[in-house]
Amino acid sequence: MNFHTRKWVKPEDLNPNGTLFGGSLLRWIDEEAAIYAIVQLGNQRVVTKYISEINFVSASRQGDIIELGITATEFGRTSITLTCEVRNKITRKSILTVEKMVFVNLGEDGLPAPHGRTEIKYVKDQFKDESAVE
Ligand SMILES: CC(C)(COP(=O)(O)OP(=O)(O)OC[C@H]1O[C@@H](n2cnc3c(N)ncnc32)[C@H](O)[C@@H]1OP(=O)(O)O)[C@@H](O)C(=O)NCCC(=O)NCCS
Repeated sequence: MNFHTRKWVKPEDLNPNGTLFGGSLLRWIDEEAAIYAIVQLGNQRVVTKYISEINFVSASRQGDIIELGITATEFGRTSITLTCEVRNKITRKSILTVEKMVFVNLGEDGLPAPHGRTEIKYVKDQFKDESAVE
């Protein structure tokens, strides 16, 4: 799993108990997963369809540096399924896991459209493809 994005937990991200607010974490993970799906499917018109159980494994506190990890587990006809983990960057302690997030690739008409992708595409390979075309 690649952990691309780091966040520094700040006062505005906390709940009244002084730990990281679950809503902040979910907003970050939904955006991170959407960006991952957009890059993998090569289409900016991608929507969140389904999110499985969310396990808030351990609390995070102000000042913690956390990192968000996503990886694709399945490529469907119009969908992509991802799995996610958030962990403390320094201690590697798990903070949240989401087993399954499904994003759907949409066409210009806003309806599900086949994406034609079958496996994870890495950025270095995408650049390789582009230079091969040029
Ligand atoms: C996304 C949307 C267009 C899909 O419509 P739909 O009628 O469910 O479409 P389909 O039945 O053709 O399913 C599309 C894909 O989603 C998958 N899917 C549908 N319901 C699912 C569910 N409950 N769980 C997992 N996958 C599901 C289907 O298996 C299909 O994948 P595949 O083509 O790879 O096999 C529609 O549900 C929608 O607009 N939802 C709102 C999205 C949204 O606003 N998200 C929040 C903001 S981003």
